[in-house]
Amino acid sequence: MITIDEVKVSDIPAVSNVIRTTWRDTYHEYLSPETSMKVSELWLDPDILAIQIADPEVIFLAAKDETGTIVGVATALHIEPTTLQLAHLFVLPKRQRQGIGTLLLERVIKKLDYIKTIRTEVEESNLRGLSFCIKRGFKKTGTKQDIVADTILLAIVMEKKL
Ligand SMILES: CC(C)(COP(=O)(O)OP(=O)(O)OC[C@H]1O[C@@H](n2cnc3c(N)ncnc32)[C@H](O)[C@@H]1OP(=O)(O)O)[C@@H](O)C(=O)NCCC(=O)NCCS
Repeated sequence: MITIDEVKVSDIPAVSNVIRTTWRDTYHEYLSPETSMKVSELWLDPDILAIQIADPEVIFLAAKDETGTIVGVATALHIEPTTLQLAHLFVLPKRQRQGIGTLLLERVIKKLDYIKTIRTEVEESNLRGLSFCIKRGFKKTGTKQDIVADTILLAIVMEKKL
């Protein structure tokens, strides 16, 4: 059975493992090793993760399996009074397609009953992520360019109305 808990500082190594492993699995075909490493560094900095965990404005959840091992993570933060940005949603490749991503998304949404919109950005090459979001009711609202390690990344901006 999967349980969803708030992430604690002691979870940082396990959370980093989920993000790193899933990020590489998702993007190794599309991004150069340099870009991939740069993004990983930004997201996996233990100090930044600790700040996010301590920030009451950030929702930071972990999905744990029967053994207590973290197999998925989600983070979200307010960007407008009734809009949440789903910043990260990662499920370990070997545990994908078992409903864990949906469970994490549902828990994020349930945390705050006044939220009317949840927004996310998915790289255009990430067909898994796009498929997940479309199936869970997100609709494209625009595109966004980010430059990371001299690489232009094009993200699809998507929103789900609650
Ligand atoms: C997107 C992601 C979080 C989904 O997690 P999950 O636990 O597999 O999601 P669920 O089991 O609840 O939903 C499964 C749906 O996700 C998509 N999906 C998940 N894994 C997939 C895969 N390996 N291949 C294709 N589609 C996949 C499909 O739409 C799938 O529906 P289907 O099985 O009916 O085809 C996971 O694939 C992941 O971590 N991807 C990398 C990071 C990412 O893309 N994050 C999303 C940005 S918002």
